[in-house]
Amino acid sequence: MKLGQLNLLSVDNRPNEEQLALVRQGKVGGFLNLTGAAATREAQRVAVTESRLKVPLLLGHDVIHGYRTIFPIPLAEAASWDPEAVEDAARVAGREAAAAGVNWTFAPMVDIARDPRWGRIAEGSGEDPYLGSVMAAARVRGFQGTDLRSPDAVMATAKHFAAYGGAEGGRDYNTVDVSERTLREIYLPPYRAAIAAGAGSVMSAFNEIGGVPSSSSPWLLTQVLRREWGFRGFVVSDWTSVEELRAHGVAASRADAGKLALEAGVDMDMVSRIYVDDLPAVVRAGRIPLPVVNTAVRRVLRGKAALGLFADPYHGSSVERERSVLLAPEHRQLARRVAQEAIVLLKNDGQRLPLSPDARTVAVIGPLADDRAAALGSWPGRGDPQDAVTPLEGIKARAAGGRILYAKGCGITDTAAAGFAEAVALARQAEVALLVLGEAGDMSGEAASRSTLGLPGVQQQLLEAVYATGTPVVLVLMNGRPLALQWAADHVPAILEAWFLGVETGPALASVLFGDVNPSGKLPVTFPRAVGQVPIYYNHTNTGRPPSADKYTSKYVDLPVSPVFPFGHGLSYTTFTFSDLRLGAPRVAPADTLRVSVTVTNTGAREGAEVVQLYVKDEVASVTRPVRALAGFRRVSLRPGESRTLQFRLTPKELGLYDQRMRFVVEPGTFRVFVGGSSVGGLEGEFEVRAQAAR
Ligand code: NOJ
Repeated sequence: MKLGQLNLLSVDNRPNEEQLALVRQGKVGGFLNLTGAAATREAQRVAVTESRLKVPLLLGHDVIHGYRTIFPIPLAEAASWDPEAVEDAARVAGREAAAAGVNWTFAPMVDIARDPRWGRIAEGSGEDPYLGSVMAAARVRGFQGTDLRSPDAVMATAKHFAAYGGAEGGRDYNTVDVSERTLREIYLPPYRAAIAAGAGSVMSAFNEIGGVPSSSSPWLLTQVLRREWGFRGFVVSDWTSVEELRAHGVAASRADAGKLALEAGVDMDMVSRIYVDDLPAVVRAGRIPLPVVNTAVRRVLRGKAALGLFADPYHGSSVERERSVLLAPEHRQLARRVAQEAIVLLKNDGQRLPLSPDARTVAVIGPLADDRAAALGSWPGRGDPQDAVTPLEGIKARAAGGRILYAKGCGITDTAAAGFAEAVALARQAEVALLVLGEAGDMSGEAASRSTLGLPGVQQQLLEAVYATGTPVVLVLMNGRPLALQWAADHVPAILEAWFLGVETGPALASVLFGDVNPSGKLPVTFPRAVGQVPIYYNHTNTGRPPSADKYTSKYVDLPVSPVFPFGHGLSYTTFTFSDLRLGAPRVAPADTLRVSVTVTNTGAREGAEVVQLYVKDEVASVTRPVRALAGFRRVSLRPGESRTLQFRLTPKELGLYDQRMRFVVEPGTFRVFVGGSSVGGLEGEFEVRAQAAR
């Protein structure tokens, strides 16, 4: 049955008898959540030996930041600004998943997020389309490799198409209403980059955009995705997003929902079972032309062929391979390195960090200090909390000579201060108090939006109580989103953002705390002062009344407009300076490429890595432009005193805009460039785009 190929069902551990019967009848195109070489091979065997047409199954799973070796959450990986490392991490995740019989991952999640209330901000690369595009492409390359038939490769899915991150109020699944300009300039580029990198599939999102649900939008799924971008893979719905067209109020029946989705361009129906149960009658009645069905089936079959499933339905998986590949030592090693790069030093007054290796007594305090499950973060694949090394364990192992005292202080969401006294007493005995505070792993991710952005429960009070002892405090944050921690930023001298770092949390954190590794992460997202500032993002337009001392300008009466930590921010134990910003020419033509070079020098006493960031601004255009927009970056490691000159290229892609008729053009006029270590400040230069380049 053709429509059967378009039916994707979820299993609870293993397919049940009914599901296997459907496979035999040719009514299943794939399963999700079926993992493990033994179970996947058995299902695949049924498909290729007991069904009439012997078509192998797609076996999909959410391999988001690791399969068994859990890496930092994607937002944290993005904080590394290291696309090669992120690609390697995806390759390892894919290799492990493939060994366990999974041939398709529902990743990368490439949704731009400007609202930290939205829990799924944890799963993406933050707020910026340039960084998001680089990371999207890196992950696709990592998952898919150069040949999808390789036993190390899984097919990637760019999701959730489109603008799922724009949910009003940061509330998951909520309405999105965004202009076509913002859609094209901010939200769409990472999906496009994933597709350009070869992503085999795209997932249609739950949300509507301006009145049209993504999963029934011919404009998104056919016009933009296929006609404009040339996507040749297949589109899978999100979980029951076809059925949900009824709740959206655009379909009166299941059959109508299925017809809308299929005709819009959703090729495969995840979990709704509408395509397989309700559409046969609609097709027979001639209400859906057969070629529409044929096209969708062809796309799905082509995906299976690309994976080589007709030659080897098991895709190289086996129980032995699974056993040897999962959690391999080199996978853990890579997870540690990525985790080290993902840590962001937010503040370090008086060089409180690194801790001296001979600090004799350190008090480790807080509900996240020894929480194995939280270390893995949301969507931990088939990760096992038992594999994770906690911050406390990592610190104990590193500080072999010193005394490490530990008190939990409170639970993550506790409302009682019963444990404070013990924590305070320990802090009093210690040279330094290390507080490990933040969110539970499942407070971000799907269906985990928050209306506040402070530390949950009584953790803020715990922090203040320990601070009041006068013992120097270092704050380590574990969280899946930016938190609004104005008090901590004002009072605590040293703050490390550690997100959720995966199985190697403890060793990675300890190596940075004790200075074996110099922190080099940079924020991929703005950290607000208060929840009332969101949505907040660095690449905003200027308004007609930018904030100034004048009352009647765009601002708050009770809070500055600036964030507490800006996009791109991240300190080091050494210092860097920038010099010699040079532009290849003072004037260029719209189609030209402009070379930009800058020298960066390590002016401190330690080796370290800096992420050099290049931003542009189109000063005057036919439409308003961001005050600055990331247009390039490079991560570079420098020894003390060492300098390096870096070259960037600005092309029409970075300089262009969508004009009032939605044509992408580079407009003549003055552009500014900014180069530095964050989205604030930096060296500045200027050049002109002229319709005719002057000689
Ligand atoms: C719903 C989520 O939105 C999506 O990201 C995920 O891939 C599917 N469930 C399958 O688990």
